[in-house]
Amino acid sequence: MREIQLNLTPFKKLISLDSVSSTMDIVFKMSRLGERFFVVSAEEQWAGKGKGNRRWYSDRFSLSFSIAIDGKFLYRQSLLSILAGVIVKKGIVSYLGIPIELKWPNDIVFKGKKLGGILGENWNEFIIIGIGINVNNLEFPCYLESAISLRQIQGREIDKVELLKSIIKEFSLDFNLFAEGNDILIKEWKKSCTTIGERVKFKSYNNIKEGIVTDIANDGALLVSLSDGRRKKIYSSDELVTER
Ligand code: BTN
Repeated sequence: MREIQLNLTPFKKLISLDSVSSTMDIVFKMSRLGERFFVVSAEEQWAGKGKGNRRWYSDRFSLSFSIAIDGKFLYRQSLLSILAGVIVKKGIVSYLGIPIELKWPNDIVFKGKKLGGILGENWNEFIIIGIGINVNNLEFPCYLESAISLRQIQGREIDKVELLKSIIKEFSLDFNLFAEGNDILIKEWKKSCTTIGERVKFKSYNNIKEGIVTDIANDGALLVSLSDGRRKKIYSSDELVTER
């Protein structure tokens, strides 16, 4: 275990671990004991968590970390992973300068391929944001056919620690915007979002319906316009049948 002091207000320290079940679990336990504003990263997770209770694949080539924030600092909690996505994107772009896109609700993508994901957990008193990025991976399990890594994009090895610092720095710089759910970040999210304007299929009772994504609502839901002029709100990616 290594503990590094961070001068990135409000974040105080980075704890870097070797092998853990999930950085979400470690941050949860520490937050329950009253710690706030710290980051935990791990070289390896043997029970990484993805959205919708799915397993998250990561290995030593991936960047896996979670951030703890005090619950009272997030005004619009439903926008948690959406706003975090904008900040993570800024961190990647400012370190590597590559054009990253965001896919609703919390995927980090490059040319339609999944580069990483964000998992927001709101425990009221504290909030945990988990971030997983494919960094130096050269191959993935066959079920992850649409995954891509930064190394595959850049054609060279990437310094994971510098990338992590760049993302935390953006969290620090934009913390007030993030905490207030500020429109600036929402506008930035819309600019980078590949989902707006797409035709999507979604489950509606026993039917599959189709519509065009027109916007994101104030509560973070996707707004879909149906052919009969009605609008439908979609809250979870699990409601979508084909997302692109
Ligand atoms: C997704 O399903 O797209 C979200 C994936 C989030 C993965 C990260 S890796 C670091 C943190 N620890 C976990 O177990 N999950 C998150």
